[in-house]
Amino acid sequence: MRNMESLVLGIESSCDDTAVAVVNAAGQVLTSVIATQTEIHAEYGGIYPEFASRAHVVAILPAIEQALSEANIAHGDLRAIGVTRGPGLIGSLLVGLHTAAGLGMGWGVPVIGINHLRGHLRSADLEQARVKYPAIILLVSGGHTFLAQMQDPGKITLLGSTRDDSVGEAYDKVGRMLGLGYPGGPVVDKMASQGSPTVAFPRPMLHDGLEFSFSGLKSAVSRYLAETEAPVLKDVAASFVEAIMDVLLTKCRRALLDWRSASLVVVGGVAASPQLRSQAAQLCREMDVELCLPPLRWSTDNAAMIALATWDYLHLEKYPRPVPELQLSISDY
Ligand code: KG4
Ligand code: ZN
Repeated sequence: MRNMESLVLGIESSCDDTAVAVVNAAGQVLTSVIATQTEIHAEYGGIYPEFASRAHVVAILPAIEQALSEANIAHGDLRAIGVTRGPGLIGSLLVGLHTAAGLGMGWGVPVIGINHLRGHLRSADLEQARVKYPAIILLVSGGHTFLAQMQDPGKITLLGSTRDDSVGEAYDKVGRMLGLGYPGGPVVDKMASQGSPTVAFPRPMLHDGLEFSFSGLKSAVSRYLAETEAPVLKDVAASFVEAIMDVLLTKCRRALLDWRSASLVVVGGVAASPQLRSQAAQLCREMDVELCLPPLRWSTDNAAMIALATWDYLHLEKYPRPVPELQLSISDY
């Protein structure tokens, strides 16, 4: 045994990846295992929830065994198990939660339910502490889009969220419209980088506060494709991405002007977008704040971020506000 009681096992199964990681109190990742289901869902153009839960059942124990073995530890080295408790697909979540509960009981290790979004919010501090507080955080994932202000890891104030679709959802739908398959984000970005933004798509709620709306933009792309003879798909992709970036960066700028901030943190699957990364860097140079991004592998779903949020819970005495203002879904940590 090594590092007696100094490690957290993270388990994440909220969607279509079975992820397990071992993380120490400094946020260093000893190992991260991700069993993806992309091939299973590819033919449906989205996630098929029942297949997702069944694939989690098959993958989860081997993934945990692999993680412990790669980290060269035994369960006696674990301080806690942190498991995603929501939001997400209920069947998928239950696989992770019940596995964690069973192992925790059998091993005598405490189990802590973690809000998936809290995991994303903390992902930029994995491997090394990057976030400078107070921070403005843009979370852009497949399920959520919001701006928040973070005073420290325990004090989060929601500034504005989407009224309808998330950015990732818009990317995924547009990817499907363009015949690019699922997930749409990376392929739409790639196609966009080869085209020119020649189509003037709407920028929903651009001049208005810190909330977002993307369903109108998605419909505008769909209408344009239906009404245009021989549309140039790479230009459609470039125009869509330009509209998304325009909205995201305008709102980030507004939040940074409204709140004294040391950094802008961009997290969630869409934070893997090269366009978003480079435009956020440009904005931060202009606004003279630090840009904090998770390394690419921690932008999309993973269990290391869940383990890091678990450490926050274990260190709550440092952050004495266990129920923050961010009320997004199942309330817990
Ligand atoms: O955070 P995440 O892995 O899962 C959720 O919590 O939802 O985010 C997945 C989303 C998908 O919509 C996917 O299309 C998008 O992130 N995504 C990207 C990129 N990579 C993943 N979007 C834009 N550009 C990318 N490179
Ligand atoms: Zn996620």
